[in-house]
Amino acid sequence: MEEPKRETVLAAVLDWYAAVGVDTSLGDEPVDWLARGDVAPGDELRRRLAEPAAAPASMATPSSAPSPAPPRAAPPGGADDRARPAMQQRAALAPDQALMAARETARTAADLAALEAALASFDGCGLKATAKNLCFFRGAAEARLMIVGEAPGRDEDIEGRPFVGRAGQLLDRMLAAIGLAEGDVHITNIVYWRPPGNRTPTPQEAEVCRPFLERQIELVKPEVVLLLGGAAAKHMLGVADGIMRLRGSWRTMPLASGARLPAMATLHPAYLLRTPVAKRMAWRDLLAVEARLSREADRA
Ligand code: URA
Repeated sequence: MEEPKRETVLAAVLDWYAAVGVDTSLGDEPVDWLARGDVAPGDELRRRLAEPAAAPASMATPSSAPSPAPPRAAPPGGADDRARPAMQQRAALAPDQALMAARETARTAADLAALEAALASFDGCGLKATAKNLCFFRGAAEARLMIVGEAPGRDEDIEGRPFVGRAGQLLDRMLAAIGLAEGDVHITNIVYWRPPGNRTPTPQEAEVCRPFLERQIELVKPEVVLLLGGAAAKHMLGVADGIMRLRGSWRTMPLASGARLPAMATLHPAYLLRTPVAKRMAWRDLLAVEARLSREADRA
């Protein structure tokens, strides 16, 4: 049987990566591209493809003998912690240590700027290793309505702000329909970094971010919280029900401080983009939020 061309094999591998959600390539060690002079990232791969050399072992067909992996250079400075790649150092923080560190740093943040700085230097959430940027919040520093979504996506990761992609644009239009602009609300997520391939954050990732989110809620002082989608609703309400059961009625969101906040869960705007017929349910939920906010304003 004729061997497939290396270009064909490479294209198939890349297609497979894209299909399973791998859209970012990372190494364990940073690459200083400036130090490589005129060699652009793709040049090396193109040069290797042009060579008539044997395909690497990872692409070999089952019939070809595996070639031994080239020896890896020892890290400079020996095997001490400073010489380990950043991703491995992050993973070294045990989950309970990470949670304790999160509680301690979040608790002492006096304002949102201090909380953002604490998050930026926090290495206890594994998502940070693959994300480009921290996505803290968008909107007002203090707001009567706080909106909590699931996790930053690709656009948010690039911009470093939550809900700036298509789902965010729909969210803005939904808010405008009840008379609210960006400056009237505080928008964030249950995790502050993009999960690779936009997967749902794991309970552990959400849990380690929670002390920061709870401190954020204390600082923003919302009267009402709107939870977008099943992941945010389940995590923040501490329940296992699906979003169709949770949405549409007022729930009580318990916080570690003992405070309890009224929360409305609704459908995630990304789901509404895929399922426009469900917009009528989200619309009803938003009207309930609007009614509650005006009732509270009348009372004040
Ligand atoms: N979806 C989310 O849940 N959050 C964002 O910030 C963007 C998309």
